[in-house]
Amino acid sequence: MSPSFPLLFFLSLLSLLSLSLSQPRGILIDCGATVGSTIDGLEWLPDGNFVSSGTPRNLTMPVLVPILSTVRSFPLENNLNRKFCYEVQVFRGAKYLVRTTYFYGGINGRDSPPVFDQIVDGTLWRVVNTTEDYARNMSSYYEGVFLAQGKTMSVCIAANRFTISDPFISALEFVILGDSLYNSTDFGKYGLSLVARHSFGYSGPLIRYPDDQFDRFWEPFDQSDSTVVSNRNISVSGFWNLPPSRIFDTKLTSGQSEALELRWPSWPLPSTMYYIALYFADDRDSSFEGSRVLNISINHVTYFGNLNVTPAGVTVFATQWPLSGLTTITLSPTANSNGGSSINAGEVFEVLALGGRTTTRDVIALETIKNSLQNPPLDWNGDPCLPREYRWTGVTCSEGPRIRVITINLTSMGLVGSLSPSVARLTALTGIWLGNNSLSGSLPDLSSLKILEIL
Ligand SMILES: *[C@@H]1O[C@H](CO)[C@@H](O)[C@H](O)[C@H]1NC(C)=O
Ligand SMILES: *[C@@H]1O[C@H](CO)[C@@H](O)[C@H](O)[C@H]1NC(C)=O
Ligand SMILES: *[C@@H]1O[C@H](CO)[C@@H](O)[C@H](O)[C@H]1NC(C)=O
Ligand SMILES: *[C@@H]1O[C@H](CO)[C@@H](O)[C@H](O)[C@H]1NC(C)=O
Ligand SMILES: *[C@@H]1O[C@H](CO)[C@@H](O)[C@H](O)[C@H]1NC(C)=O
Ligand SMILES: *[C@@H]1O[C@H](CO)[C@@H](O)[C@H](O)[C@H]1NC(C)=O
Ligand SMILES: *[C@@H]1O[C@H](CO)[C@@H](O)[C@H](O)[C@H]1NC(C)=O
Ligand SMILES: *[C@@H]1O[C@H](CO)[C@@H](O)[C@H](O)[C@H]1NC(C)=O
Repeated sequence: MSPSFPLLFFLSLLSLLSLSLSQPRGILIDCGATVGSTIDGLEWLPDGNFVSSGTPRNLTMPVLVPILSTVRSFPLENNLNRKFCYEVQVFRGAKYLVRTTYFYGGINGRDSPPVFDQIVDGTLWRVVNTTEDYARNMSSYYEGVFLAQGKTMSVCIAANRFTISDPFISALEFVILGDSLYNSTDFGKYGLSLVARHSFGYSGPLIRYPDDQFDRFWEPFDQSDSTVVSNRNISVSGFWNLPPSRIFDTKLTSGQSEALELRWPSWPLPSTMYYIALYFADDRDSSFEGSRVLNISINHVTYFGNLNVTPAGVTVFATQWPLSGLTTITLSPTANSNGGSSINAGEVFEVLALGGRTTTRDVIALETIKNSLQNPPLDWNGDPCLPREYRWTGVTCSEGPRIRVITINLTSMGLVGSLSPSVARLTALTGIWLGNNSLSGSLPDLSSLKILEIL
């Protein structure tokens, strides 16, 4: 009777299809979950295929977001300086947004969450301290941008000397970023660790996917002594960092020919180098007012002169800019500018020097050895030698730019299995100790190891 039914069905199917097609490319892992789920159009996987240690735990308190209801917890006991890693298949050469999320939920019985380290590949990324957020019943997230230098990428959790109960993780995300994003950074040498990403003059909930096609989080930011203006007619284009157009709907402004002082980020920063990107766009309808030209300084050092703010939008970025303590960004209209100062959004990342990687050949040989053992040491995942304070149990490595495995000492580890002949491929090996284990089979031929001293 009604031909519109199948048509409606067809249409909704199409829109579902386009929704799932536009999901950011990558892997979203719901740590501690045993089944997958779809939340707000994003597909989450259980974590069992990505991690070989730790225990899945269920939170007993109610949570705001379903992915926070489970965590994977790693044993603190005797595991100081041992890392526990998630390993995911990645596209070598692609740039990934990596996000870790933590919500403690009292799983260790103590009031306060533990403080611990998080590691990406061979680099110590951040100390995870969620104490303050947790006291406000909030989850914490850390975000970074890292290049996939191999076929797998690892994110590890590790107890440090401040850790007083079992480290844990709630969620882990890997999203492929477009080539042009943040591309002034040499990702072969550096990673970016997010400090702040705000939409200025905005006061609603997080702006994220689907507004941001990569599901970056843009937090609201207001400042009492500036005016919030909502743009009415925005049409931005050409941004390499592809910010969502919604961040241009609001801005902070000053009065006619007045300077705008932005105290942002609003907390003190450690003294190091930062990537800074500031975003500007004018209402198309305001173009009749003439041009808006701004001089920008950060902590009274000139950052950019004569920035012409256009309706198409403009961004100014610094690849490595020194910041320390509190930050003040001053936007002043130049003499020939009509209108006041304004700014729509900003991003600040800490520039992180990468810790390097163990020589691939040695990593592959060690992986094969690991697979020939029935019960390899629990921390044998992630990079074998790096970060140096988190190298694999029983493995020592060389210093310098080419990092090689130089000794293996597996004495009295209760190991069962055989020793893979791949050990002969560790050509920088100078010593190997295997005593008091239950290793069966014959020892592989180690004659190729010219400098091997002791067996
Ligand atoms: C957590 O909850 C899920 C679903 O209710 C259940 O299947 C799973 O066994 C629980 N896990 C633990 C460790 O209690
Ligand atoms: C973690 O953060 C809290 C609150 O900011 C602070 O009091 C505490 O000292 C921090 N812990 C460590 C080990 O840094
Ligand atoms: C956090 O949640 C707990 C339990 O739901 C509640 O008792 C407490 O008041 C909340 N704290 C804050 C700061 O909202
Ligand atoms: C960054 O991407 C833009 C847009 O694709 C391109 O024009 C620019 O040359 C790239 N810059 C670098 C340093 O690769
Ligand atoms: C937005 O601005 C453009 C160019 O000035 C104009 O053609 C268009 O009609 C405007 N749209 C609205 C909804 O005001
Ligand atoms: C703005 O910057 C330009 C170039 O750095 C400089 O020549 C000019 O004097 C500045 N104008 C104001 C009003 O500070
Ligand atoms: C190898 O490890 C055992 C047990 O940890 C230790 O007693 C021994 O001294 C180590 N040997 C060498 C050469 O480091
Ligand atoms: C052999 O290793 C086990 C642990 O796997 C240890 O308890 C035992 O003391 C070791 N024996 C000797 C003689 O070192």
